[in-house]
Amino acid sequence: LVAGIDSSTQSCKVVIRDAATGALVRHGSAPHPSGTEVDPTAWWDALAVAVEQAGGLADVAAISVGGQQHGMVVLDADGDVIRPALLWNDSRSGGAARDLVTELGAQAWAEGTGTVPVASITATKLRWLAQHEPENAARVAAVCLPHDYLTWRLSGSTSLDDLVTDASDASGTGYYSGRDGAYRRDLLAHAFGRDDVVLPRVAGPREAVGTATAFGASALLGPGAGDNAAAALALGLGPGDVAISLGTSGVVSAVVAQPVADASGTVAGFSDATGNFLPLVVTVNCAQVLDATRRVLGIDVDTLAALALAAPAGAGGVTLVPYLQGERTPNLPDATGALHGLTLESYTRENVARAAFEAIVCSLAVGIDAVRDLGLEVSSVRLLGGAAKSPALREVAPAVLGTDVLLPSPGEYVADGAARQAAWVLAAQDDAGADLPDWADSGAETVSGTATPHVREQYAAASGLFLSR
Ligand code: XUL
Repeated sequence: LVAGIDSSTQSCKVVIRDAATGALVRHGSAPHPSGTEVDPTAWWDALAVAVEQAGGLADVAAISVGGQQHGMVVLDADGDVIRPALLWNDSRSGGAARDLVTELGAQAWAEGTGTVPVASITATKLRWLAQHEPENAARVAAVCLPHDYLTWRLSGSTSLDDLVTDASDASGTGYYSGRDGAYRRDLLAHAFGRDDVVLPRVAGPREAVGTATAFGASALLGPGAGDNAAAALALGLGPGDVAISLGTSGVVSAVVAQPVADASGTVAGFSDATGNFLPLVVTVNCAQVLDATRRVLGIDVDTLAALALAAPAGAGGVTLVPYLQGERTPNLPDATGALHGLTLESYTRENVARAAFEAIVCSLAVGIDAVRDLGLEVSSVRLLGGAAKSPALREVAPAVLGTDVLLPSPGEYVADGAARQAAWVLAAQDDAGADLPDWADSGAETVSGTATPHVREQYAAASGLFLSR
């Protein structure tokens, strides 16, 4: 058996699968505090509950952790957490991001790290820490990411030298070059003003990085991965396959063989968890836009979908600019949301509900365009994440994107991808060059729709119509 863990923005999930077939054997999950600033020990506590619910880890041979990317976990010389982690969705370092880009230029960042810094990126959070909490910054002995922290705690080590990460998550820090497979300590020093902190060692894709001893386990530990790369592992994405994940963040990702450097900053040139690359476009306003709209209308998710399906494409001209938490793509950390096109006729619950769905899909359609504009192939589009279950999204997504979309069977893709990595690590014990285990494909449903290009045009026209905080 192998275990995969997903420490996400909201909760911790554990799946235990058969290493050979991938069959699900047991699973567990537990919530932890969400928000944009969370104490990493709360992730560990949630993991403990999820592991217990999943029947423990005593019979598991290998474990890998997937997790939310970018979160800044800062540890002191004793390995204790210095302050709550600033997460990918925390926009307070937007000014620091702007400064870093002004100081070195977008081109230098894109070429050096694959990514032009935005508030999500770890390097900008370190700059913020140095400027706003100098006492905390001075105590930092090591910086790691959420999944690294949990891998380290699973190993039972308290030595900072045992911290390990993988290329997919390292590539989201802003101080790692996926192209060179090495940290850019000079960029870390530039951002943070110090170059003497311990960074996790970047392990290879199928490398056993230690032994998990916590929770009664005695299992090999895999290097783990950032959540988007773990999901790509679960889906077995190959070149040309695009995934759109509709979760707390909205993510367009594509697997490609060559590193990507987009100096416009729209596409982040991350690495994947197999030695390839995973260019990503990320919006920070996704499922929560649906949730907020549902709350304002005083209805549940099913009613929101039913209302949206009762409205015409384009929502009678009602447009929701969805920047409820600022935005990352486009890079507008201080923007606020707006509703446009209201008239006595158009201002209906149906149109407002429809506008919420169209808004999040239009934001992600921009991401697919950006991937194509880089000359990357888009041969299939998969829709994942909780919101992909909504019948309204199944109608709106193919219509707005103008393409068929595949709906893979529901699953815990991040935890499943971590489990598949664990099975890979196990297979590599006998055969160092082992391929990713060939787990049964659980199938996908294809949905088509009538293309509605006017909806994209409506959103393009409204995209500048917002006020900043
Ligand atoms: C990726 C990103 C988000 C988080 C969500 O760049 O910021 O997708 O990984 O957990």
